[in-house]
Amino acid sequence: MDVLQIAESIIDKNLSNGIDDAFFVLDLEEVKRKYEYWIQKIPRVVPYYAVKSNDDERVMKLLRDVGAGYDCASKKEISQILNLNVDPNRIIYSNTIKQVSHIMYAAEKGVDKITFDSAPELEKIKQHYPNAKVVLRIFNLGFKFGCDHEKEAPKLIKLCKDLDMNLIGLSFHIGSFTNDHTVYVRAFETTRKLFDYAETLGMKLNFIDIGGGFGGKDLSVFDNYAASINAGIEKYFPSNDVEIISEPGRFFVDTAFSVATQVILKKPSEDGQIYYYVNESIYMSFLTMFLYKVNLKFSVIRKSKKEHEPKNLLSSIWGCTCNSMDKIIGDRMMPEVEMGDWLVFFNMGDYTTATSTKFNGFNSLNVFISDDIENL
Ligand SMILES: Cc1ncc(COP(=O)(O)O)c(C=O)c1O
Repeated sequence: MDVLQIAESIIDKNLSNGIDDAFFVLDLEEVKRKYEYWIQKIPRVVPYYAVKSNDDERVMKLLRDVGAGYDCASKKEISQILNLNVDPNRIIYSNTIKQVSHIMYAAEKGVDKITFDSAPELEKIKQHYPNAKVVLRIFNLGFKFGCDHEKEAPKLIKLCKDLDMNLIGLSFHIGSFTNDHTVYVRAFETTRKLFDYAETLGMKLNFIDIGGGFGGKDLSVFDNYAASINAGIEKYFPSNDVEIISEPGRFFVDTAFSVATQVILKKPSEDGQIYYYVNESIYMSFLTMFLYKVNLKFSVIRKSKKEHEPKNLLSSIWGCTCNSMDKIIGDRMMPEVEMGDWLVFFNMGDYTTATSTKFNGFNSLNVFISDDIENL
């Protein structure tokens, strides 16, 4: 069964039980396919799944079973992963801004790979987790995170030595700031220089974390990044004694989730368009899509009884909260639908369930996989 068939079965079963809530459909096989693709394309780089992108337990268990690690940003994320019986060794605590109690929790649980990008954060880690294996995050592309690789990084490496902290390596997160995939070759070159500098201080680094930011919708884009990453590794870190990891989030989940929403109101608007209102919202699953102006794709499942010849009309799709900004799609030609029809939006896995709020009393949505249909 494809996603639309699964969604329709869930809609039918739910409606027969009086349930008309929006819901997610998760294709776990897609997550697995992505993992296999990653391993095939960049075998030297072990993915540590960025839990922040989507903390669905079935996704995290699947990734555990195939051998991934995890990038956690907080105590809660670390505990979620440890509760899945994952070895603390397979976790990196990658948030460069940490609360003391969260550092102490990591220390208690033996999650020892911890990222920092400033002297005060390093001193905080020294005080509360002196045996941590620290990882210095370089490059400050957006100012909030990272440090300048020329001016600050050498000083921070030296500070690790002075504080007798176990600096194991460097990290960077180029993310989606650039479309220039060759940036990875230059990043590995910089990393090599800093490794060499550390060696002059008698410190042997053996760990690199290349961050996340890889989209999973267009694999030809990923292929370009993979080629650049492989070229950088081959040129600057050919030997296997350096462990290389990454923190991909959306790569694994973006295409694996779809959200099915019901059209709960249709009305003509004074500006000549048709306005549709669905039981979803920018305060629920569509926040990230709204902020980043993502071009949303959807298909229609017709459930209304109204017979007509569907035509394309200028339309907008609004969310169900009372906020007047809550518009999911604006001013687009789309097939005419009716109240009671369903719209299934694709590529909804990354930063959707994870950023959903309870605004206006709407709860987070159920996530179904095909196996769940039998148990509805
Ligand atoms: C440091 C770091 N690592 C990993 C990620 C995951 O990014 P993505 O889901 O785009 O792969 C992020 C996202 O913000 C990040 O800031």
